[in-house]
Amino acid sequence: MEKDDQKQNATPEGKDGLTRRQFLTYALGGTGAFMAASIGAPLLTFALAPLKSAGAANMVDTGHKASEFNGQEPKPITFKLHVNDGWNSKDVDKQAYVIQQGDKLLVMSPLCTHLGCLVSKADTQWSEGGKWYFHCPCHNSKFDKYGVQSPDSPATRPLDIYPYEVRNGQLFVSGQLQKRG
Ligand code: FES
Repeated sequence: MEKDDQKQNATPEGKDGLTRRQFLTYALGGTGAFMAASIGAPLLTFALAPLKSAGAANMVDTGHKASEFNGQEPKPITFKLHVNDGWNSKDVDKQAYVIQQGDKLLVMSPLCTHLGCLVSKADTQWSEGGKWYFHCPCHNSKFDKYGVQSPDSPATRPLDIYPYEVRNGQLFVSGQLQKRG
C-alpha cells in the first residue's frame, strides 16, 4: 500500500527537483539569451559608433597662428586628426588651405567637391589670368581663391570647409567637414 502511494505521487522530477519541462525551458531560455547577446552586442556597438566617432569633432590645434593668414592667397597647412575608424583608432594627417575672407577665416578642404580628387594650385593654363586659384586634374574643375567653383566646372558646390576656432591667437579646427552652397 505504501509502495502504491509512492508510485501515484511520482513525478518526472530529477534528483534535484527539476522537471524535464523546467530543464528544457531554462536550456532554451539560456540559448536564446546567448544568441540575442551575440547578435545584439555587435549591433549595439554599430549603433553607438557615431557617438564614438563624434570625438573627431573635437577641436585640434593646427600649430598655426590665426595671424599667419591673409586675404591675398590661400596658405596650405597640415594638421593631425584623431580618427576612430571601425576597430582602428589613429592620428591621420589632413591638409587644408586657409584664407581670410572679411573678418573670418576659410579653412578649406583640398578635396574636389565633384568626385573627391585632390585639387592643387592652378597653373597658368587653368588659372585664366589668376581668376581661378585651384584646379582639379580629374575632370578640370576650377575654384577661385575662396574655393568657389567656376560656372563650367563639373563640381557644383564650393570646397568644403573645416569649422574653426581661434584660441589665444592659435587656429584650432574640427574634423567634421561642412558643405557650403
Ligand atoms: S573630381 Fe574634381 S573635377 Fe571631377
